[in-house]
This record gives sequence, structure tokens and C-alpha cells, in this order.
Amino acid sequence: MTKIKRIAFLTSGGDCAGMNTAIRSITRTAVYYGIKPFAVMYGYKGLMNGDFKEFNRRSVSSIINLGGTIIKTARSEEFMTKKGRAKAVRNLKRHKIDSLVVIGGNGSFQGAHALCNESDIKCIGVPGTIDNDINGTDFTIGSFTAVGVALDAIDKIRDTATSLERIFVVEVMGRESGYIAMRVALAGGAEDVLLPETKPDLNGICREIKSAYKKGKVSWILIVAEGAGHGHKIAERIENITGYETRVTVLGHIQRGGAPNAIDRILASRLGSAAVTALMDGETDKMVGIVSNRVVLTDFAIACRKKKESDEELYKLLKILEA
Ligand code: F6P
Repeated sequence: MTKIKRIAFLTSGGDCAGMNTAIRSITRTAVYYGIKPFAVMYGYKGLMNGDFKEFNRRSVSSIINLGGTIIKTARSEEFMTKKGRAKAVRNLKRHKIDSLVVIGGNGSFQGAHALCNESDIKCIGVPGTIDNDINGTDFTIGSFTAVGVALDAIDKIRDTATSLERIFVVEVMGRESGYIAMRVALAGGAEDVLLPETKPDLNGICREIKSAYKKGKVSWILIVAEGAGHGHKIAERIENITGYETRVTVLGHIQRGGAPNAIDRILASRLGSAAVTALMDGETDKMVGIVSNRVVLTDFAIACRKKKESDEELYKLLKILEA
């Protein structure tokens, strides 16, 4: 077991529900083991600017249920450079810290991996992103909550879509990941979904709409992942081709906010604490994740690779279940 005296942690990239729960878990686990926790404000930017705050058990009181991140987050181009990372290392050394926990997604872990390669800083990642697109974990913190938020909105859209007998295009988040889109399409009973991972066939969808309407169908919900197309343009094309009244709702950043649900809070509590104990065990250059309900470590080099999970099975089910 490595004797750690001080530990730093930060949140990086897009925020998500459950980041605060992870911050609480890291802080309190550190204190429990006699380690001084330091919050780094504004992600890697704060690491390079020396924006550190010493935390204690009380610093994280009543944040378990708060959305966003109390220590702020940022996307940093500078940290992607060697010079930027060297600055960060100097600041950590100045604070006599050699252990770091990074809560974030793919891009954040690429930075952390480079930091491990170029210095003796020990670093462990905690996966936090609504996109659930990280290798080495079944689920990322925030993804369950984001699906819940989007689903809640889609249920409401269904009310008006069926009442006014309209087609609705609902754009959900996911520039490179169809995770949210596929889940809410299935759970929300949508008729179809467009994902960034697959080639969209809008003409095919329009043909399907026309034939379904001929058989008596009166409304249609199409979920579009942000990376699969522009919701407004898709709605316009559908209306032009089918002749049926079509409306669009872009759910946007509301999907990143709100209180983390129970699953995300449990996940964040487990992974935050596991990150600290992994560092105590001398681990570095790895991410803590959950696989088949067990906490596991995965090398950053593998975690950083885009998750290639096929949603084919879920898509097939969606089409079987449609009316
Ligand atoms: O955090 C991931 C994510 O929410 C993606 O789903 C989305 O495409 C992107 O971030 C949006 O980023 P920004 O908030 O910088 O527009």
C-alpha cells in the first residue's frame, strides 16, 4: 500500500448528474484514510492555473443530490499540449500532490493518460458522461439520469403528438454516441431512431410513415441523436415528403442537468471511493469502472478508445414492438 498524504481531484469536459456525488465520495474516502483532499477548480484549466482548494468532510455536505459540479468544469485545448501538462505537474508538485483523480469522459482520459506518461503523477479516472461511450465500464455516471430526463420529456411530447395527431422529431444529445437516443426511443415507445453510428435512411422512414398512416396510424415519434442529423431539417424534410404535419423538439442541455437518480448516486459513490483506494494500492494510468456490478480497473489506453457497442439488438426490438 502506497502512503498518500495529499490527493487532488477535478471534473473535466461536459458535466453530468452524479459528478457532485463522486466529489463527495472521493473527499470523504480520502479523509477516512487520513489523506488531505484538494479540489481543483475548472478542470484541467485550474490544474494549469494552480486553482486548488483544500476540502474537508463538511466541504461536500448536501451535494449528494445536486446536478452539475460544484468544482466547475471546462474543456481545455492547452492541456492537450505538453507545455500545458508540464504547467499542471509544476502546480501539483508545488502543492506536494502526486495523486490525482479525474472525473470525466474520453477526452479527459486522453489528457490524463498523457500526464501519466510524461510525469510521476499517479492518476485514476472516474467515468462521468451522459454519453456512456467509454470502454471498460458498463455504465458511466450521469447516463442513467440523462436517459430519465429525456424520457420524461418524450412522454409529455407523446401526449400532444397523439392528441393533435402529428409527427414529432425529437433531437436528443449525443454528438458521437447514440446511447441516449436508442434508450429513450425504446423506453419511450418511439417509432424510429436515427443514430450517429448508423447511416440514416430518411426516405425509408418517410415510406414507412406513409404506409403506416394508410393503415390508420395517426402519429409518429422519431428520435434523432444530435450527431445523426439536424432535428429541424429532418422535420422539414419529413413534412415535405409525407405531407403530414411535423413538429420538432430539441431537448438540448436539460439532459445534462438535474438531480442524479439513485443508480447514478450509487455508481458515483462506489467509483469515487474506488478511485482513492486504487491510488492507495499504487495503481495509476487507469480508470475505475463497473462491469457486471463489480468495480474493475481498465488502462486509460483502452478506456480512451471509442466504445464500439452495437445497438442492433435494441433497434430490432424497437421495430418489433412498434404498432
Ligand atoms: O458531454 C457529452 C455531450 O453532452 C454530448 O452528448 C454532446 O454532444 C456534447 O457534450 C455537447 O457539448 P457542449 O455542451 O460543449 O455543446
